[in-house]
Amino acid sequence: MIETRYFSADGDISVYRECGRIIRKGGLVAFPTETVYGLGVNALDKDAIPKVFEAKGRPSDNPLIVHVAYPDEAEKIAHVNSTYKRLAERFMPGPLTVILPKKEIVPKEVTGGLDTVGVRCPSDLSAHKLICEANVPIAAPSANLSGAPSPTAAKHVICDMDGRIDAALLSGECSFGLESTVIALKNDGAVILRPGAVTKEELLEELSFVEISPAVTDPAMVGEAPASPGMKYKHYSPKCDFILLDCNSEKFAEFAENQKGRIAVVCGEDESHRFKCCETYIYGRTDDYKALSFSLFAFFRKADERGIEKLYARLPEKEGYGLALYNRMIRAAANRILKV
Ligand code: TXA
Ligand code: MG
Repeated sequence: MIETRYFSADGDISVYRECGRIIRKGGLVAFPTETVYGLGVNALDKDAIPKVFEAKGRPSDNPLIVHVAYPDEAEKIAHVNSTYKRLAERFMPGPLTVILPKKEIVPKEVTGGLDTVGVRCPSDLSAHKLICEANVPIAAPSANLSGAPSPTAAKHVICDMDGRIDAALLSGECSFGLESTVIALKNDGAVILRPGAVTKEELLEELSFVEISPAVTDPAMVGEAPASPGMKYKHYSPKCDFILLDCNSEKFAEFAENQKGRIAVVCGEDESHRFKCCETYIYGRTDDYKALSFSLFAFFRKADERGIEKLYARLPEKEGYGLALYNRMIRAAANRILKV
């Protein structure tokens, strides 16, 4: 156990200086981003990197994303090309991670032995200020215990990381709520390894083609050595049973209302009136996938806090923003999808 120091992200520059100093000296600092909270470490300090895996209980072959303050700082750590520059122009700073051939300066501890590195330039102002003050690129996985849902609020970080890390920079809820889109470049196109807030449709406006890695929509691929090593681990799941239903709103309610035990449902505000016996976790209008992305991981944590045995949700569409939700939800459900 170490004593974790807490700082408010609303604090003045001295807070960022101190957190930046801790990172530069090889310590661990959790910080907010626009996707989820990250657990930051100096990406160039090979002796510090293993501490991140230890704090999370994460397998060390799962590579970390490296965060930079400005898109062109990617050149310090990776070999960039014109496709990267085009994507950076449009989507950075923002929730996009691009896998690039790494430069020597990045220790293999960061990349799980791969010769590529994931580069991301977050748009969150606190993250930006921290990277600037640290004055080194920051390697950061999500700041949760391995296997638990990514943290989207300060209390999630405290719950998982208190006593395990040197400091945490705390702010409000993350604006997206799901992790960044991870892509690998291929000629003048890309392969989506993990879908996120930057959608396939948006990427297609800049690239000649965009493929989706089969592991994104097929949980049976878990364990098959997919292109993005993180995809092989069961992820994002609540401790309770999470079950997906492939049906309309009426059938959803009919089914859930007939289940026994402590049941909760993830539902839209326009369908919540149908549920009389279950707890309802309401995100916004049924088709508002942005609102669902914002709340999903918090719902997982809430269900566990409240001792829910079974949590039900409807299977989202695979288009646009829905693809990221689909990917996280089928994994959390370990592919339990019921047609009713
Ligand atoms: O939004 C995010 O990306 C958050 C915030 C903190 O930036 N970070 C995050 O990191 O989600 P993490 O470690 O939880 O997920 C990183 C994902 C994993 O699936 C990992 O396998 C993949 O990115 N990844 C990282 N480097 C890679 C590489 N060189 N090649 C293929 N996949 C890589
Ligand atoms: Mg993670």
